[in-house]
Amino acid sequence: MKFLRSLVAAGSLITSAMGYANPGSCSGQCWSHDPSVIQRSSDGTYFRFETGSLIGIWKASSLTGSWVYQGAVVPSGSSINLDGSDDLWAPDVHQVGNTYILYYSVSTFGSQNSAIGYATSSTMEYGSWTDHGSTGIRSSSSKNYNAIDANLIEAGGSYYMNFGSFWGDIYQVAMNSAATSTAGSASYQIAYNNSGSHAVEGSYMYEHGGYYYLFFSNGICCGYDSSMPAQGEEYHVSVCRSAYATGGFVDANGNDCLNGGGTTVLASHGNVYGPGGQGVFSDPTYGDVLYYHYADTTVGYADSQYLFGWNTITWSNGWPTV
Ligand SMILES: *[C@@H]1O[C@H](CO)[C@@H](O)[C@H](O)[C@H]1NC(C)=O
Repeated sequence: MKFLRSLVAAGSLITSAMGYANPGSCSGQCWSHDPSVIQRSSDGTYFRFETGSLIGIWKASSLTGSWVYQGAVVPSGSSINLDGSDDLWAPDVHQVGNTYILYYSVSTFGSQNSAIGYATSSTMEYGSWTDHGSTGIRSSSSKNYNAIDANLIEAGGSYYMNFGSFWGDIYQVAMNSAATSTAGSASYQIAYNNSGSHAVEGSYMYEHGGYYYLFFSNGICCGYDSSMPAQGEEYHVSVCRSAYATGGFVDANGNDCLNGGGTTVLASHGNVYGPGGQGVFSDPTYGDVLYYHYADTTVGYADSQYLFGWNTITWSNGWPTV
């Protein structure tokens, strides 16, 4: 285990020695927490969804803005009958056929009493969303996972949902052909850090060049203004990859990501502190983009001050760098 940890540390040093680009520009309303970005296929309009309240909708004509708040996705709260049904987290939005599906989490901070729900729309506009309640992905204290932080991937014509936060970290379950509920088979673990507090969450899978890349956030996400983590324990973004969407993930040093592996893609640098809650988006202007939230050290460390950041991904020997 010690050997494994020193390999991981050496990998992080190499990455940070290369330096990270500053976030791309953002104009208009750029507050962010666990962003999900998607373009509407009919006209290219950008939509950005964020954690908190009833999931806010922001709209822009470009990735850089100017972002304008529209209203909430689920204005009267989720129909899932759990604590947290009016404080929804971690949106993940995909187009499936002619429908946009937004997955959200219902939970309370630090609780395993959680579920993943979804809402659908044909336009993503404010007022157009219908809540459908649970996908069937649910956790309680008897499980080895927390049913939050949903992320859908299509692979080989089938849909899979990645999810999880702490406990057994990242799990996956097969979804039905409409991507609206589980296919009924058991979920399985795809990434796990057995050391420390198992601080892995917010996964996002992206296919590129014949590999499935599993991005995730490690460390402490929130509350920096009231309790500053030890250096390096704050949020940062790591990646693993596999030729299969369903397992076999390793990092750039070949470490098994079910056993603590993970190559750092983005960590605190310059004015950027605690980047995470990331996603990947293929932009017609900027190419593959890693987007995330971060605290700008010149603005403040409170969750309410987090900003939307993004960087163009450079694929270097099959690994993403920013
Ligand atoms: C796994 O957890 C340990 C302890 O928190 C941490 O030092 C290490 O960086 C983590 N590994 C990865 C790949 O994030």
